[in-house]
Amino acid sequence: MSLTEKASPIAPGITPPRHVAIVMDGNGRWARARHLPRTEGHRQGVGAVRRTVRFCAEQGVEVLTLFALSSENLQRPKVEIATLFELFLSVVDQELPQLEKAGVRLRFIGDIHAFSSRLQGYIHRAQERTRDNTGMTLVIAAGYGGRWDLTQAMQRLALQVQAQALRPEQITPQLMEEQLTTVGLADPDLFIRTGGEQRLSNFLLWQLAYTELFFSEVLWPDFDETELQRAFEFYAKRERRFGRITEAK
Ligand code: IPE
Ligand code: MG
Repeated sequence: MSLTEKASPIAPGITPPRHVAIVMDGNGRWARARHLPRTEGHRQGVGAVRRTVRFCAEQGVEVLTLFALSSENLQRPKVEIATLFELFLSVVDQELPQLEKAGVRLRFIGDIHAFSSRLQGYIHRAQERTRDNTGMTLVIAAGYGGRWDLTQAMQRLALQVQAQALRPEQITPQLMEEQLTTVGLADPDLFIRTGGEQRLSNFLLWQLAYTELFFSEVLWPDFDETELQRAFEFYAKRERRFGRITEAK
């Protein structure tokens, strides 16, 4: 499919999720099955990122959050991390004009202090260049961990308490949300994890409290529109009660 061609819309009447959050897993296994180095799996995964961004933008998804690199992933061998960073950099660089044209707003969440200053510069520039766009928000979680996010939020609140700008009893879930890296974004409606594992792996722990969870056996480099459509249809069938009960008829 070309970049300008429209994806066929999902069944009429189906409302797409507003915020989709994805754990892109299975690159290593995809490569191993082909007797290739793990890094080749990551390279192939870029295609799946492109397909996913395009499909979600076309379907009217408002926010797409991709887990690119967890805080824990940073402990992988240096060559693998180097490839991931290099890929990350070249994808942001190459895709930026296309994303700008599509009106996509980029936002990065995570602790990027460990990244090279070159990469940090790219991240800041990409955010700046797309900040006034009004299309889909593409959130890239890099160096991200749900526990890290919660911890940094608590540290900021603690500083306010210490400065006597806030009393502990004034801390509410809303106040917590204002300190999380996802401030201003609605919580994800649909979580997708590829690669067959059924766990959250320290992704958006607070934000996924009421999210519908879809686990796919497909390895990330093979992830495509057909599987995304399956996930959206699964989401459309869910009845979301947010802890309440369905109203009696
Ligand atoms: C996911 O693929 C990509 C990243 C974590 C960056 P993996 O590298 O975890 O692939 P598997 O799980 O080993 O197959
Ligand atoms: Mg994995």
